[in-house]
Amino acid sequence: MALKDSLKSVFDSFSPHIKVAHEIFREHLNPGDHVFDATCGNGNDTLLAASLVFPNGKVMACDLQEEALQKSKTLLGPLSQLIDWRLGSHAEIPYEIPNRTLALAIYNLGYLPGGNKTFTTQKESTIESLSIVLEKLKVGGILSVTTYSAHPGGEKEERAVETFLASLERKKFGVISFSWSNRPTAPKLFLVKLLA
Ligand SMILES: C[S@@+](CC[C@H](N)C(=O)[O-])C[C@H]1O[C@@H](n2cnc3c(N)ncnc32)[C@H](O)[C@@H]1O
Repeated sequence: MALKDSLKSVFDSFSPHIKVAHEIFREHLNPGDHVFDATCGNGNDTLLAASLVFPNGKVMACDLQEEALQKSKTLLGPLSQLIDWRLGSHAEIPYEIPNRTLALAIYNLGYLPGGNKTFTTQKESTIESLSIVLEKLKVGGILSVTTYSAHPGGEKEERAVETFLASLERKKFGVISFSWSNRPTAPKLFLVKLLA
């Protein structure tokens, strides 16, 4: 998509953070890449990643709720058979992922849209997981984190993510964020690239 189309769709969108993240996934991912979706939820991010890295890529997608896995599998349909699904917490990262192999790690935090709004990601396990996953990125690989501050606990989690990412060594990681300046409770997108 050309920049002018992207800008229009971002400003007009109900969920601009998702638009921006998905545009970046489209630019960044190639067939054969390895992706870890740390919160598959309804499967939207997993579906996009799968469509960009298959047939010879690898997509690992986990969630702490069985309901989320079922919704994701339904959304992906036949593609679902190609995904390595796991029920579990991203705190431990329930896969054997060799270091320096991931092209993309996706953390879309908060609660399952359409599900139980009180079941949310937690700042402690999120930070634990983020610190592990950074070792899994290959050089040039990207970590995408979307935070939601409007639900209880969400603001603290967002601040913890922001503080953690801001502390990363700048020669090693590039860290940028996308947020609305005049909508303080709108979701924020953080993108981290392993530079070297
Ligand atoms: C905003 S949703 C994810 C949306 C999803 N990426 C999509 O495209 O539809 C957040 C998800 O995080 C999950 N979650 C909460 N804590 C988790 C944890 N510790 N490990 C893995 N998933 C978790 C929730 O169950 C929920 O499904």
